[in-house]
Amino acid sequence: MVTLLLCALFLWGLAPINTVQVSIEPSLCEVWGPGLYPDKITLPARYFYIQAVDKHKNKLTESPGNVFDVQMTGDSIYKSYRVWINILDRKNGSLIVRYKTYHTYNNFKIIITYKGEHVGNSPYNIKGTVYADGCYCPVKSFTKWLTDFGCEISYDQINSDLEAFPKVNFTEVRNAALKKFNHPGSMSICNYVIKDNQVYRKCYGQYVGFKMFLDAILLSLARKVHLPDMEMLFNLGDWPLSINGSDPKIPLFSWCGSVGNLDIVMPTYDITEASLECMGRVMLDMLSVQGNIDKKWEKKN
Ligand SMILES: *[C@@H]1O[C@H](CO)[C@@H](O)[C@H](O)[C@H]1NC(C)=O
Ligand SMILES: *[C@@H]1O[C@H](CO)[C@@H](O)[C@H](O)[C@H]1NC(C)=O
Ligand SMILES: *[C@@H]1O[C@H](CO)[C@@H](O)[C@H](O)[C@H]1NC(C)=O
Repeated sequence: MVTLLLCALFLWGLAPINTVQVSIEPSLCEVWGPGLYPDKITLPARYFYIQAVDKHKNKLTESPGNVFDVQMTGDSIYKSYRVWINILDRKNGSLIVRYKTYHTYNNFKIIITYKGEHVGNSPYNIKGTVYADGCYCPVKSFTKWLTDFGCEISYDQINSDLEAFPKVNFTEVRNAALKKFNHPGSMSICNYVIKDNQVYRKCYGQYVGFKMFLDAILLSLARKVHLPDMEMLFNLGDWPLSINGSDPKIPLFSWCGSVGNLDIVMPTYDITEASLECMGRVMLDMLSVQGNIDKKWEKKN
């Protein structure tokens, strides 16, 4: 009987060992991502990653739990500052920290601590001004903006999508498109013009409600950077329209494509909307899905 009791106590005493017992070494933890450069990269929700690392320089592969404290401060014209922070545990030793700013800040600081000790290179002192996503604060130089965002000089996908259109005479193409796609009941296209960083559009067809998704992405971009003057045609329908072999070939942005069609496929409206509304709505987006893991991959069946 006594042995049983001892055994039970022993097992009971052992139980907490199942939770992660490794000790995190705050200075060795890795912190990276665009959210550490908020003066250079404005996003609807900024984000960065934390990888927990232990004293022996091993990266943790299990969730350390809710152990990191993230704080942000800054000077704004309002006394009370508002930064909304949300931490997503990827359950594999790494986390995503997302945050949304609502005002313009100077002397912005990101402070990450673990049991009172700074994590990575915390505190991160941001030199430039930090703008909110809603601010109409376009960067003048388009090239500087692309560099700040870490965009590459060229992308294979874009090059191959545009290969069919080495030269476009938009007067010709626009007229051809309006003639060809003039089936108001079944086809909906929008013609956008960006001039002096103002967005103009004219849509054709009966069902053009989905234009709101295009408006949203173009307006969001125009708030961040002074866009070059340009003209584009968008297909709001859910099948491709630009047939290979038509004369002239019509450069048409679509949410879908097909072999034999020349439609330039762009990310679908649900993904762009989720990215633009990031943290603004209860909706899954490319980041939040990573923090909604209740079972590890091996345990799923
Ligand atoms: C573009 O097409 C229009 C209509 O076909 C034509 O009048 C114009 O001369 C063309 N422009 C150029 C630069 O080729
Ligand atoms: C379009 O047609 C041309 C000629 O048939 C062909 O060479 C080209 O690969 C086609 N492009 C696409 C994207 O299917
Ligand atoms: C953790 O999971 C994310 C996806 O949820 C993955 O991108 C990342 O590489 C993983 N990290 C490690 C260290 O396995």
